[in-house]
Amino acid sequence: MELNGAHVVVTGGSRGIGAALAQHFADAGSTVSLVARSADTIKSFADDLSGHAFPTDLLDPDQVDELIPRIEHEAGPIDVLVNNAGLETSAFFNNVSPQEIRDVTTLNLEVPMVLTRAVLPSMLDRNNGHVVLTSSLAGTAGFPGLAAYGATKAGLTNFAAALRMELRDTGINMTVVAPGPVDTQMWDALEEETDLAPMLKRLRRFQLIPQKSPDFIAAQTVKAVVANKRHVRSPRRLASNTMLREAPTLLTETLLRGVPLGPQPRS
Ligand SMILES: NC(=O)c1ccc[n+]([C@@H]2O[C@H](COP(=O)([O-])OP(=O)(O)OC[C@H]3O[C@@H](n4cnc5c(N)ncnc54)[C@H](OP(=O)(O)O)[C@@H]3O)[C@@H](O)[C@H]2O)c1
Repeated sequence: MELNGAHVVVTGGSRGIGAALAQHFADAGSTVSLVARSADTIKSFADDLSGHAFPTDLLDPDQVDELIPRIEHEAGPIDVLVNNAGLETSAFFNNVSPQEIRDVTTLNLEVPMVLTRAVLPSMLDRNNGHVVLTSSLAGTAGFPGLAAYGATKAGLTNFAAALRMELRDTGINMTVVAPGPVDTQMWDALEEETDLAPMLKRLRRFQLIPQKSPDFIAAQTVKAVVANKRHVRSPRRLASNTMLREAPTLLTETLLRGVPLGPQPRS
């Protein structure tokens, strides 16, 4: 994907990984549209980036349904959709409330699917586009204390695998970003006295979860979009997790080679 002159939408663009992604896409010459609840923050950041701000609560289905048409109307066709907004649950499952389960599932899994569905018609018309999904290392295996969060991220990864096969004959590509710990507000909250603490202590003893900066993840992601790479895996020392998880998908892809699967490019 050529990023110079592209229009990139970043959800969760007010801070953390999303803000770093927005900065890196803008540095690559893209016009960035930021989506988050913090209206003042994204408006002022969008001014800095010469982009656009679309204050939105993605837990409100009406706002979600109107978001993509609104962005396309006000800022033009979307070349790259980055589904990055997310929240975590960080307690043993018996301590997670039904509302928290609904919210994490909606924001982390349902909303990326609905927004992706909304950008597809225009991307298919142009036979060009890229969808980024911010999954997580927690989507590659079950981690205690992250049952609901990990379920949403595993769901995102499988969603991408299936949709990538459906879009195989089109010019639309997908990248799944699956980071371990990243130095953001979300990770800071996990490090506080949560139920995860003993697990994190063990993984740290084996030096398996080095913390990366949002800038590092954003730079890797932008490179992956330019090169149409399927995955951003971090930390490298746990890349085996994502690779092992990818094996059944690769087998399915091989078995389905030559079978008509989804939209065909328009002639
Ligand atoms: N940090 C990590 O260690 C880590 C590791 C793996 C994966 N990830 C994933 O990376 C993504 C970004 O995480 P982060 O660490 O950058 O988190 P963060 O610092 O907590 O940022 C979360 C972003 O999501 C937005 N957001 C939250 N609720 C929203 C809502 N209802 N409507 C619209 N926007 C909403 C927030 O903006 P507002 O509050 O302004 O709405 C913010 O921009 C998430 O999907 C997360 O699961 C993070």
